[in-house]
Amino acid sequence: MCGIIGFTGKLEAQDILLNGLASLEYRGYDSAGIAYFKDTGKISLRKTVGKVKDLRAICDDENNSTCGIGHTRWATHGGVTNANAHPHKVGQIALIHNGIIENYHELVNKFDLADQLISETDTEVAAALINKLYNGDPKEALKKAVAEIEGSFAFCVLFKDHPGEIYAIRNVSPMVATHCEEGSFIASDLTAFIKYNKRYFIVPEYHILTMKEDGIDLEDLNGNAVEPEYLEVNWDVTAAQKDGYPHFMIKEIHEQPQAITRTITPRIKDMLPDFSEDGIPDSFFEDVNDITIVACGTAMYAGMVGKTMIQNRLHIPVTVAIASEFRYEEPVITDKSMVIVVSQSGETIDTLEALRLANKYTKKTLSIVNVKGSSIARESSYVLYTHAGPEIAVASTKAYTVQAATFYLLGCKLALVQNKMSVEEAHEFIQTLSEIPNYIEEVLAQASNVEQLTKRMTNAANAFFIGRGLDYTLCMEGALKLKEISYIHAEAYAAGELKHGTIALISEGVPVIAVATQKHVYSKVISNIREVKARGAYVTLLTREKEITDPSICDVHISLPDIADEFAIFEAVVIFQLIAYYTSVGKGLNPDQPRNLAKSVTVE
Ligand code: F6R
Repeated sequence: MCGIIGFTGKLEAQDILLNGLASLEYRGYDSAGIAYFKDTGKISLRKTVGKVKDLRAICDDENNSTCGIGHTRWATHGGVTNANAHPHKVGQIALIHNGIIENYHELVNKFDLADQLISETDTEVAAALINKLYNGDPKEALKKAVAEIEGSFAFCVLFKDHPGEIYAIRNVSPMVATHCEEGSFIASDLTAFIKYNKRYFIVPEYHILTMKEDGIDLEDLNGNAVEPEYLEVNWDVTAAQKDGYPHFMIKEIHEQPQAITRTITPRIKDMLPDFSEDGIPDSFFEDVNDITIVACGTAMYAGMVGKTMIQNRLHIPVTVAIASEFRYEEPVITDKSMVIVVSQSGETIDTLEALRLANKYTKKTLSIVNVKGSSIARESSYVLYTHAGPEIAVASTKAYTVQAATFYLLGCKLALVQNKMSVEEAHEFIQTLSEIPNYIEEVLAQASNVEQLTKRMTNAANAFFIGRGLDYTLCMEGALKLKEISYIHAEAYAAGELKHGTIALISEGVPVIAVATQKHVYSKVISNIREVKARGAYVTLLTREKEITDPSICDVHISLPDIADEFAIFEAVVIFQLIAYYTSVGKGLNPDQPRNLAKSVTVE
């Protein structure tokens, strides 16, 4: 949600800011802007509605400033207009912001700021406030301002009379920084500067960062110097580029076999799950009475797979909660409950706040997170990092499959520790899990067939995904993927539930994507398919058979490689991802940047 970047150093800033913003565009693409020191004592702005390419078009080729800040916006307060685009310049300062200032109305009245505001944004109020409190000392102004501000923020500020310097502070909203040979960088996410340095640190909350060409100073609000804790990533700039693919999404779909291998291999020892390198003792998995899985969106649907798989094996209650709901419920959690939070970004505010709530009830909190050092990873008792590499496309794909694979390791570990699975069964289970990447490769080989069959989907207004058991959990993810990038209304239904109401929506030609990979409910799903087929649905059926006995029950049959029931979800979901991707492309849309969305949702 909004991407921010700042640079001060030996190089010209404009290209660094624009290229950084292009790599942060997944966080928002309503408008974009930069501010930079032009001559000593002068701050210039360029900003526009639209994408980074539109901003690039209005930038000055001759700009040789070496210090500036940039922003790509996902609108929260105020429409998509030039005035509402960041940076906001008020008096002595220019500011960019990611987050939401909750008490901005009160601040306007308390500090009499109304006559300085020309936009409808909460951010401009923060700019006006900092400007009002500024008396020549940037750090003092920031300290006084954040004492007044309620909400989430990552601010980068230029002060007119401090050329070459960038000041930053954050609460909740993510911000990482680094200093290297070329200068000092700050951004919402390190993809914006990884080209220059793989080492970075997470800016601690409520600490002031002073960035200069020759270094970065970090201090707490009492003025004590703090040493930044540097981390290092194990991927490089190519992982955050399209690498010849037309979109990040299709690249990321194809990366799934390697991503799963990277995630599970270090956690398999002697064909058994092993979390010792993650520092998790086996005792953590003992004495668990129940499990609550908390997440949002796709991560929550990966949690649904985890629930079904773990509950079937352990026979203990496993609940999946939508993080934004969980936060405002009375959670039924005791010190014997395990709470598993799942998040690709590790920064989704609803999930983070849900984790904070869960931490009050139990010490058994575990996160499944992709981004190293993120807030959710830091605040849970233990973390299992997925190793998907950077996920840039807004629609999550590889993050889902690595999260699901992590749940399979986790389920196996819990079952072993709780004597619900024998070592021999566990060997067989882990052996199959480690073969998943090969099976996914086989599925990916069918991509062009899937592209053909989506030609018909592009005209659809509605679509239904149906299945039972694990297949149903998968349908929810299939429907979400199609909705978010192709704008086709899609619903997931437990196949047996259709006849209790929703079948009224099935009419001639409505696409129904049915999955029947689970043997124990196979014949039931087939009966449900007959019900929709009889009402004119256009049925695409996914099964593990080479050929189906009665071809008349569907219009298209997709045959998945044969594999044990529990593992078929990994194959079917790839077909769902391809259906969504090719439908979006077939409709002439950009699947990487669906309307109204942004990755990493750091507002509530
Ligand atoms: C959908 C999608 C979202 C995210 C959700 C949670 O394709 O990407 O539904 O899964 O916003 O994000 P994380 O996993 O970063 O917490």
